[in-house]
Amino acid sequence: MQLLVVGANGLLGSNVVRAGQQRGWSVCGTYHSTQPAFDIRLTQFDLGEYASFDDVVSEHDPDVVVNCAAMTDVDGCEADPERAHLLNGDAPGGLAAACTANDVEFVHVSTDYVFDGRERDPYSESAETNPRQVYGESKLAGEQAVAEETTDALVARLSFVWGVHRSTGDLTGFPAWVRGQLRSGDAIPLFTDQWVTPTRAGQAAESLLDLIEQEATGLFHVACSSCVSPYEFGEVIAEYVGSGEELLTEGSMEDIERVATRPTYSCLDIKHVESTLGRSQPTIREDIEAVREAFR
Ligand SMILES: NC(=O)c1ccc[n+]([C@@H]2O[C@H](COP(=O)([O-])OP(=O)(O)OC[C@H]3O[C@@H](n4cnc5c(N)ncnc54)[C@H](OP(=O)(O)O)[C@@H]3O)[C@@H](O)[C@H]2O)c1
Repeated sequence: MQLLVVGANGLLGSNVVRAGQQRGWSVCGTYHSTQPAFDIRLTQFDLGEYASFDDVVSEHDPDVVVNCAAMTDVDGCEADPERAHLLNGDAPGGLAAACTANDVEFVHVSTDYVFDGRERDPYSESAETNPRQVYGESKLAGEQAVAEETTDALVARLSFVWGVHRSTGDLTGFPAWVRGQLRSGDAIPLFTDQWVTPTRAGQAAESLLDLIEQEATGLFHVACSSCVSPYEFGEVIAEYVGSGEELLTEGSMEDIERVATRPTYSCLDIKHVESTLGRSQPTIREDIEAVREAFR
C-alpha cells in the first residue's frame, strides 16, 4: 500500500506516518512550514494552493491519501475567516477532486466542533450539525466539499486530539499542558462544565488505517469511549504523572474569555466505528496507559 499523508508534521499526521510504517506500508508525505524528521519522501505543499495537488498525486502515485492538514487554531480561524474557509472548507474539496481524477482513495479528517453542544447524549454521525464558530463552520464546509466531489471518501470526525508527536517524540495537547503545570507546582484550573471524548492521535491513526484496510467509506466518529470533563481527564493524568493531584482546581468555561465560542458538550458516539471494526474503542484510562511512558 502506498500511503500519502498530507500534513505529515501535524500531531495526527505524524501518527499516521508512524502507523503506516509499522504496517509495512510505503509512506510518503507533505509538510507545510516544518519538515518532519521522518526518513520518507516529502513534498512541501500549501493547502491554499490546492489546485496544484494533482501534481503532488502524480509525483507520489499513492493508493490512498489521508488529509491530516488543517487550520486548527480555533481562535485564529475566528480572526481570519477567509483563510479558515480556504484551508478547511475549499481545500478538502480540491484534494478529493484530485484523488477522484487519479483513482486514489481519499480520507479526510473533521471535528466534533461541527456540533453546537446543546445535547447531553453523545452525537452520532447522523446528528444535526450546527457549528457555533468559524472553525466548525469551515470544517463542516470541508466535509460538504468532499461529499460534492465523491461519495467514496472516508471522513473521520475527531474530538480534543492529544498524543505523542511521532516526529519530535513530545507529548502534545491538553495532557502536555497539565503535565507541565503539575511539574511546576502551579495551580491547574480545569473546567467541570465541558464534556469531550478525547481522541488519542495514535489510536485515531490505527483506526483510520484499519478502516482503510476494510475499504470503509462514509462518515465515522473516532474518539475514546469516555465522555469526560477536562477536570476528570486531569485527574487521570495526575495519577499517571504520580503527583500534584491537589493542584487541580475546579474551573468553569465562563472563567476564560476566548475569541471563539466552544461547545460545552461535544462527546462523540463511537458505535459505528466499533461495529465496523468489530472491537471497542479504548477508555480514556486505556488510552493514557498506551503511552504511559510519556507521563513520567
Ligand atoms: N486538535 C484537536 O483538538 C482536533 C479536534 C478535532 C479534530 N481535529 C482535526 O484533526 C486533524 C488533525 O489535527 P492535529 O491535531 O493533528 O493538528 P496539528 O497538529 O495542528 O496539525 C495541523 C497540520 O496542518 C498543517 N497545515 C496548517 N496550515 C497548512 C497549510 N496552509 N497548508 C498545508 N498544511 C497546513 C500543519 O503544517 P505546518 O505545521 O507545517 O504548518 C500541520 O501539519 C485536523 O483536520 C483537525 O481539524 C483536531
